[in-house]
Amino acid sequence: MATLRDSLLKNARWYAACQRLVGADRAQRRMVADHLRPVAGSAVLDVGCGDAHVRPLLGAVDYVGVDLNDNYIDAAVDKVDDHTRLLHADVASLPGLGLGPFDLAMALGLQHHLPDDVVRNLIEDVAAVLHPGGRYVTMDPVFAPDGRTTARVLAALDRGRYVRDEPGYVRLFDDSPFELDVVRVRHDLLPIPYSHLVIEARRR
Ligand SMILES: C[S@@+](CC[C@H](N)C(=O)[O-])C[C@H]1O[C@@H](n2cnc3c(N)ncnc32)[C@H](O)[C@@H]1O
Repeated sequence: MATLRDSLLKNARWYAACQRLVGADRAQRRMVADHLRPVAGSAVLDVGCGDAHVRPLLGAVDYVGVDLNDNYIDAAVDKVDDHTRLLHADVASLPGLGLGPFDLAMALGLQHHLPDDVVRNLIEDVAAVLHPGGRYVTMDPVFAPDGRTTARVLAALDRGRYVRDEPGYVRLFDDSPFELDVVRVRHDLLPIPYSHLVIEARRR
């Protein structure tokens, strides 16, 4: 069953349909307004960008999205313009892509797909392409003690195999080049019972 779900969701159309069904659009709007706060003219990196659904919400920025799934990247081709690049690549290859420097980086729904060592490397690699003082914003499903039972069940059913609790995500930034400005569990990003952890980190 999980294999069928994972195969379907690797297809950009099914993924977009499921995102619409759960109200992910609202989550992205709230992320942009409350946490990403893009500044016009800034350079923005989106790791694990999927179909770059968030891109139109960011306004007049220079955007680079990177994703492993070429089906998602191909589906987002209509978003490519002089200020938008989309790259089909594994985030593990970020240092070799010759990108940056950026003012803002984001990983929305990515870290829970990756084991700890890969996330730690990614945090270092993102820091290396950010300006000093640049921000890195992450959002992932979280097992939250104060969340509804349904939210915990839905998080456990996620196709990401590395959904963590709050300390599990925060630990990934230990000894990294980032200060954590905001660590916030949100139960209100989706219109269904679901808990997310948002981290706003700032490169020292
Ligand atoms: C839950 S989706 C989130 C997509 C997008 N950020 C959004 O908010 O709609 C997770 C994304 O991470 C991508 N991904 C997973 N592992 C990756 C890796 N190692 N390198 C690049 N992208 C990866 C998947 O292909 C998928 O598009």
